[in-house]
Amino acid sequence: MNENIQKLQEWIDGSENIVFFGGAGVSTESKIPDFRSTDGLYNQKYKYPPETIISHSFYKRNPEEFFRFYKDKMLYPDAEPNAAHLKLAELEKAGKLKAVVTQNIDGLHQKAGSETVYELHGSVLRNYCEICGASYDLDYVVNYDGVPKCNQPGCHGTVKPDVVLYEEGLNGMTIDAAVRAIAAADMLIIGGTSLTVYPAAGFVDYYRGNKLVLINRDETPMDYRANLIIRDKIGEVFSAIKV
Ligand code: OAD
Repeated sequence: MNENIQKLQEWIDGSENIVFFGGAGVSTESKIPDFRSTDGLYNQKYKYPPETIISHSFYKRNPEEFFRFYKDKMLYPDAEPNAAHLKLAELEKAGKLKAVVTQNIDGLHQKAGSETVYELHGSVLRNYCEICGASYDLDYVVNYDGVPKCNQPGCHGTVKPDVVLYEEGLNGMTIDAAVRAIAAADMLIIGGTSLTVYPAAGFVDYYRGNKLVLINRDETPMDYRANLIIRDKIGEVFSAIKV
């Protein structure tokens, strides 16, 4: 075990209120591409920039193109949790980890068994009719040909994923819970996020302890805040950790 991972293990052993804050890099080892790496979603070529397509105004203006992109590039119904998701769930079961705060929308933390998960950007697993509020699962959206429509008698509203699009605000209750958890944490592990998207990235400021660990392949604007930086793959790092 290298020195950094040994230190991470020691800090985990000595903590009882750990919070994990993560992003797309947590799921790349589950074969879901991240956004900003060279092979990430934002570096691929489309007719419009991805940030434009996954914005609220584009969704309203051009739902056909939105759903074409969304289904093609943002849905991974067959993805499975990797070692990072699984170890975080184990740490929660052991009573050490109190919450996962994630920017991901893939539901893999829950699939791995985590219970307290604050999904800042929503989830592809929840979908609601914009008119009558009827709820639909991921399969409904995946299997619907074109723009998914509500099947309630006489409704036919568009079924919108419960995912925070650009120009939309985050859920207030989720923000509140995430911030409280981070503020109360004795150890904060941040992983797989470029820490460039606000308000989520700003949540780091609520941590008041001195065990801030950053596990990320690339540098981030908040590296200077970390007490320990690990540049390895997050799934591999967590596989080395014993609960
Ligand atoms: P990014 O794509 O911006 O950053 C992912 C980070 O994870 C990068 O810094 C990579 O170096 C790192 N990374 C990738 N694979 C890794 C691995 N196996 N182990 C360790 N590190 C790894 O993703 P986010 O920070 O999550 O928002 O992006 C934030 C938000 O931007 C997303 O939630 C999304 C996007 O626009 C919305 O859709 C609202």
